[in-house]
This record gives sequence, C-alpha cells and structure tokens, in this order.
Amino acid sequence: MSRSEYEELRAAFTAAVSHELRTPLARLLALLESAELPGADQPALLAQARDEVEEMTELVDDILFLSELEQGREVVSLGETEAAPLLRALVDEKLERAELAGIRLEIQIEDEELLVPLRRRMLRTVADNLLENAIRYAGEGATCVVALRREDGEVVLEVSDDGAGVPEEDAPRLFERFFRSDRARTTRGSGLGLAIVKHVVETAGGNVEARGSSGHGLDVRCAFPADG
Ligand SMILES: Nc1ncnc2c1ncn2[C@@H]1O[C@H](COP(=O)(O)OP(=O)(O)OP(=O)(O)O)[C@@H](O)[C@H]1O
Ligand SMILES: [Mg+2]
Repeated sequence: MSRSEYEELRAAFTAAVSHELRTPLARLLALLESAELPGADQPALLAQARDEVEEMTELVDDILFLSELEQGREVVSLGETEAAPLLRALVDEKLERAELAGIRLEIQIEDEELLVPLRRRMLRTVADNLLENAIRYAGEGATCVVALRREDGEVVLEVSDDGAGVPEEDAPRLFERFFRSDRARTTRGSGLGLAIVKHVVETAGGNVEARGSSGHGLDVRCAFPADG
C-alpha cells in the first residue's frame, strides 16, 4: 500500500468511526428514556441497551487501532505472536454467536508453536475481522474453518467457509475500502474490515487473497514470511 493510499485509508477510517460513534449513543439514550416509561418492558430494553454498549466498545477498540495505524509501519509490524493460543481463544469467544447464526466453527492447527510476524492486537484484528465476516455473511448451515499451517516457507492463516460466498468477480474487490457485496447491504458494516486486514497483513510483509463464488463460500488466505 502506498503512502497516499494509506493516508486515504486512515482518513476514511476516521470518518467512519466518528460518524458511527454518535448513532449508538443516541439509540442508548432513547432506550433508557423508554425504560423509564410506565409499563415499559425493562428486560427487553436493557438487553438492547447492552447491545448498544457492546457496539460502542467495538468502536472504541477501532479508535485505539486507528491510533496504532497512525504511529506507522514499525508499530504495526513490530513483534511476533504465537498464533495458536490466540486463535483458539478467539474461536471460543465466538462460539455462542456463531451458533446463534447457525455457523459451525472449526480450528485446524498444524503446529502449536507457529509464529506470525504481528503484534498480538494486530493478529487479533486480522483473525477477528475474518471470523466476524464468516459469522455475518456465510449463512445458516455453513461451516467456517480457521486454519494455521506452514506452507513453502510461509506461515498461512486461512479462514474459509462453505456458505453464501460472493460472485466470483467480486472476490478481488472485497479488499477495497467501502466495498460491500450486494447481499450484505442490509446488514450493519462499513466495508472497511477487509481493507484493514489487507493493510495489516501487507505491512507485516505478507499478502492476502480471497477466493470463492456465489453459493460456494469464501476463502481468505493470509500468507506471512516465516523467518526460520
Ligand atoms: N465470509 C464471507 N462470505 C460472504 N461474503 C463475505 C464474507 N466476508 C466478506 N464478505 C463480503 O465482503 C464485503 C466486505 O467485507 P468487509 O469485512 O471489508 O466489510 P463489512 O463486513 O461489510 O464491514 P465491516 O467489516 O467494516 O464492519 C462484505 O460486505 C460482504 O459482502
Ligand atoms: Mg467485515
């Protein structure tokens, strides 16, 4: 990613985050006001309020991530993380939500000690975006596999599902900022997740590609240089 593309990503990301920060706050206020009305269904309103707080928490995480991006290249790529425990914990965290969406999560780890050249938080950002997408878009009945293995001197992190997929011609465009494939337009999302994934993976000297077709799932493969 060139300097100006990077600046553009950062600007787009800032705009999206500031815009989205106002919305959950307004909804939260409205929910709390409704809960004070006589005869209000308080448990239901509180559950919705909790969802809004969770959404805001995610936004705050995004802002923290943004400030890391602003610190530039070294910070993002600095360090190495043993990926297996992080991936297992992340999958565990998502099991319940995946089940609600009718998605089965599997993890295939070739080597518990494989290192990925990213700091923990960056690796988490990558894996989290890919898993969230599978849960959001694959559709009921799909299986999502998170795989970690060594391949021709690279460390490969691959998240694939056998769900709804995207039209074949869309697959390379998924990494563009704000690009969302058609059927996703009704769901929440800014179309920045995969642009961020690409930025982070490439900053670490790796590359990422997506393959798939409508009805045959999506396969996102991140390959990192292995040093040793
Ligand atoms: N596993 C998947 N199956 C089907 N379509 C997918 C999958 N992952 C991504 N997509 C498509 O790629 C688009 C871009 O994904 P991306 O993660 O960049 O943005 P988003 O999920 O729409 O929003 P954000 O991640 O910023 O909340 C999605 O809108 C969706 O159309
Ligand atoms: Mg996404």
